Amino acid sequence: MLKIFDDKIKLSFAFCDELLNMSGEKNVFNIALSGGSTPRIIFQTLAEKFRGKIDWEKIHLFWGDERCVPPDDEESNFGMTKKYLLDYIDIPPKNIHPVNGNNIPEKEAERYSTELKKFLPVKNYLPVFDLIMLGIGEDGHTASIFPDQMKLLNSEKICEVSFHPLSKQKRITLTGKVIDNAERIIFLITGKSKSEIFNRILENRDEPVKKYPAAAITPVNGRIEYFADKEASGLLTGTL
Ligand code: 6PG
Repeated sequence: MLKIFDDKIKLSFAFCDELLNMSGEKNVFNIALSGGSTPRIIFQTLAEKFRGKIDWEKIHLFWGDERCVPPDDEESNFGMTKKYLLDYIDIPPKNIHPVNGNNIPEKEAERYSTELKKFLPVKNYLPVFDLIMLGIGEDGHTASIFPDQMKLLNSEKICEVSFHPLSKQKRITLTGKVIDNAERIIFLITGKSKSEIFNRILENRDEPVKKYPAAAITPVNGRIEYFADKEASGLLTGTL
């Protein structure tokens, strides 16, 4: 459930080892990547240390959320993944399934939902990922489900349009039910700036009323784990 690592380097190696082992057991491995800054170290470790170990032919890359910006925009999660990972690995282009940040958001949410239904197996009448990588925002959001948009956790849709509460930037996000449907969910939490919210998330997770989207993520048939470094887990009060 909770794995604490000395630092983000050791955390990233542990995640990459998990990805290597999990994907080695399957002919096709479907992963939804998270965005923001935390995954950069994961992508760098994959590019530098796991490039030749992982069979990228098996791996299909999707995104758990994306900002509605062009791929070359510095805000683009796809652009960040390309910069730190895709430019260094031999993955077939057909295995890369980006959200189209240039599309009209409402149309893209529909289009991406259709793409997920086309490529992914189905469980509980929903697309099922082998692994979903998630981060936690300092406000407790995850993917692009923000605390003032909790209804997206229970949306009947596969993808929805959301917006950042401060910048109002539009986003495409997986909905809570699709995230919960994954075989495996791994939250990645690093840095002292996340210690407060991480502690609150773990406490709120066991309460009936969820205040934070990240606290509401609960696998229906899979496993959930929190990979945290010592800085991010510094305030934990033994809640796990
Ligand atoms: C995004 C992410 C988002 C992220 C958190 C944490 O598009 O921003 O998917 O959910 O995981 O905001 O971001 P950091 O890793 O930058 O703290």
